[in-house]
Amino acid sequence: MDAATLDGARVLVTGASRGYGAAIARALATEGAYLLLTATDASRLGAVAEECRGLGAAEVQCLALDLGDAASVDALTAEVAGLVPRLEGVVLNASIVGARGPIAEISPTEMEAAIAVNVTHQLRLIHGIEPLIARGAGVVVVTSGAAAKPGRGAYGVTKGMMDVVADVLREEWADREVRVVRVNPGPLRTDMRAAVYPNEDPATVPPPAERVPPVIAVLKGADPGPRIQASEWGLS
Ligand SMILES: NC(=O)c1ccc[n+]([C@@H]2O[C@H](COP(=O)([O-])OP(=O)(O)OC[C@H]3O[C@@H](n4cnc5c(N)ncnc54)[C@H](OP(=O)(O)O)[C@@H]3O)[C@@H](O)[C@H]2O)c1
Repeated sequence: MDAATLDGARVLVTGASRGYGAAIARALATEGAYLLLTATDASRLGAVAEECRGLGAAEVQCLALDLGDAASVDALTAEVAGLVPRLEGVVLNASIVGARGPIAEISPTEMEAAIAVNVTHQLRLIHGIEPLIARGAGVVVVTSGAAAKPGRGAYGVTKGMMDVVADVLREEWADREVRVVRVNPGPLRTDMRAAVYPNEDPATVPPPAERVPPVIAVLKGADPGPRIQASEWGLS
C-alpha cells in the first residue's frame, strides 16, 4: 500500500449496509481500498458490496456483524483475522438510536440494550481487532452532536461514552502512530435521521456522501486532532 493513498489499504467499516457507512464504503472503493464491510442485513450489504466492486475496490468482503450479540462480534473478529494480517483503517460507524427521553426515565433493559450495541460490543470489537491494527493506521469513530447532551436518551449517553473511549484510545495508541479521530458528520439524510425526525423534509438534510471526505482524509493519513465536524474541517 502507498501510504499517501488508500490503494490496497485494508479497511473495516461497520454499518456499511446503508446510510453513512455505505457512503464511506463507496468512497473507499473509488480509492481502490480492500474493503471489509459489516452489517446485519446481508442483502443490503451485498448490494453495497456490488456497487463498491464496480467503483474500483481492490477487494470487497461482506461480513455479518450483529453488535447486539457478543458471539457475533467474536466470529467477525476471527473472520477478519483469517482474511487479512493487518488493517490500515477502521471505521466504527454502526450504532442505533435506542430508547429516547430523559435518561432517568429510560428502563434499565432499554438502556442496557443500547449500551450493548453502541458501547459494550464496540469495545469487544476493538479488543478483538487490536492486534490487527497496523502501525500508522487511521481509526475513525463516528460520533454525534448529541453525544453527552441532555434529552438525547440512550443515544446521547452511549455516544458520549464512545467519545471517551476514542479519546483514551487515541492516547494509548499514540506510540503506534495510530490516529484515532472522532468524526461528527452532522445531520445526514439517512434512515436513522428519518426515524428520529419523521416530520423533517429529507431534502433539507445533506446526503451522507457530502460528509464523507474528512473520513477519507483521516484514513489517508491526516491527523486533524481528536475530534472534527465533518461539515467544517478542511476538505481539500
Ligand atoms: N444520520 C444522522 O443524522 C447522524 C448524525 C450524526 C451522527 N450519526 C452517526 O452516523 C453513524 C451512521 O448513522 P446513519 O445515519 O447512517 O444510520 P443508519 O442509516 O441507521 O445506518 C446504521 C448502520 O448501522 C448498522 N447497524 C444497526 N444496528 C446494528 C447492529 N446491531 N449490529 C451491527 N450493525 C448495525 C446498520 O446495518 P444493518 O441494519 O444492516 O445491521 C446500518 O448499516 C452512526 O454512528 C450515527 O450515530 C448520524
